[in-house]
Amino acid sequence: MRIDIVSIIPELLESPLNHSIMKRAQTKGLLEVHVHHLRQWAVNEYGQVDDYQYGGGAGMVMMCEPLANAIESLGRDRKYDEIIYMTPDGKQFDQKTANRLSLGENLLIICGHYKGIDQRIRDHFVTLELSVGDYVLSGGELAAAIVTDAVGRLLPGVLNDETSALTDSFQDDLLAPPVYTRPADFRGWKVPDILLSGDLRKVEEWRYEQAVLRTQERRPDL
Ligand code: ADE
Repeated sequence: MRIDIVSIIPELLESPLNHSIMKRAQTKGLLEVHVHHLRQWAVNEYGQVDDYQYGGGAGMVMMCEPLANAIESLGRDRKYDEIIYMTPDGKQFDQKTANRLSLGENLLIICGHYKGIDQRIRDHFVTLELSVGDYVLSGGELAAAIVTDAVGRLLPGVLNDETSALTDSFQDDLLAPPVYTRPADFRGWKVPDILLSGDLRKVEEWRYEQAVLRTQERRPDL
């Protein structure tokens, strides 16, 4: 899969996408991430990509022209499954959306700043608007990194057995059960006996029960 990200602060995406599993995905050639500086499509030599909003009010708006040129220029080389705009008023990003997006070939993600992007880009180019939560970030980059990570780790071959996505929280609409490692007794706090029993069937049953309990307690909405 290839993910193109358009941003005015590409540096913000460097670290989150170049370590651990995301790095492995790219080294293995399973995921390509290309971050494009929006200023290369700026409207003038000063690198302008934003302007005052019509109707007045504080805060700048990202202009149509640089964004349209960026999207059209990138779109000439490949067909995007989705052109995604990261925005707090978008649809809540969740595991189901990550699963669906991971089946595509090419994604384009637009990161907004200031008051956001001109509505006409949203109306005429964007195919999916995603929010990572009910709070406002300084820009779309960290949100784009979240989507890229959540989607990238689902690509076949990225995770090994140890990190398998099948037992993650939210797969099957269940939160993950509690986990323990050595020692079996830490300050008198003991690991549940069943995990030490060696009975794999019982362990699986216990994990499933715990996952259901935890989900009922913490996320009954699931
Ligand atoms: N940009 C700013 N805040 C955001 C959020 N919560 N989700 C997605 N993009 C954003």
